Amino acid sequence: MAYETMDVRPTAGALGAEIYGANLKDRDDSRMWIELRQAFLEYHVIAIRGQDMSLEDMMRVGGKFGEPCYYPFAKGMDGYPYITEVIKEKDQRENFGSDWHTDTMYLQKPPRATLLYALETPARGGDTLYVNTAAAYDALSAGMKKLIEGLVGVASGGLKHKKGGPRAAHHDRIGNMALQNADKADGFEARHPIVRTHPDTGRKSLYVSSLHTIRFDGFTEEESKPLIDFLNDHCIEPEFSCRVRWEPGQLTIWDNRTTLHNAINDYHGYRRQMRRLTVGPEVPA
Ligand SMILES: [Fe+2]
Repeated sequence: MAYETMDVRPTAGALGAEIYGANLKDRDDSRMWIELRQAFLEYHVIAIRGQDMSLEDMMRVGGKFGEPCYYPFAKGMDGYPYITEVIKEKDQRENFGSDWHTDTMYLQKPPRATLLYALETPARGGDTLYVNTAAAYDALSAGMKKLIEGLVGVASGGLKHKKGGPRAAHHDRIGNMALQNADKADGFEARHPIVRTHPDTGRKSLYVSSLHTIRFDGFTEEESKPLIDFLNDHCIEPEFSCRVRWEPGQLTIWDNRTTLHNAINDYHGYRRQMRRLTVGPEVPA
């Protein structure tokens, strides 16, 4: 569709757009919000440049995409319990959000969208990669589509398969973020269909990652792992991907139902500071 209130520039073939000239301070229910939601559905990940957002602004913009979601593994900011800070200091090696995943799929009602707002970005590096898991589903053979139809994935918050150890070890290495609940991580577990249907577009997508999906319901971990890894690796093929570069004042919003993302840890020696909000709790179906 044509966009009249903003300049929408696609960044790759499969997904992703940069948006210029959007006025997120708009408090009227203007056409801009309709177009922003349309761009979100059309491009799956939208990087809105040139913003100056307070915490209150972030809650208001998030509200245009759904009710706020609670993130179990980091404390919220003062007065804004749903917004968490994502920080990597100059001298820190581990980052938050690496390894391909979709946000908090181990919750019963994972968020439809994530908002990430950049306050401080490294001079180079610190980009985020995304892939379109609806395009990845479409590209599967008829035989594989039939095989995985009806499979239910068990997602865990324990990061059991993370390189360097599970969630507690990961939190220990990060250090300076307000992380919490590592000891309860294995208790965050949810069952969701491996193939889900987007409620707004009707498109099917793969809802699986090697980081969070520990097995298929009714299967052992050993039986499940090869197919989980195949589907994960299929999703992250370059033709389904885009790369988002960051600058301060950029708000990126992505659709967790049709994407995986991976925060690239390639900026040691630089500080990076973001604010994160997830919205739109929804039972995947
Ligand atoms: Fe994430």
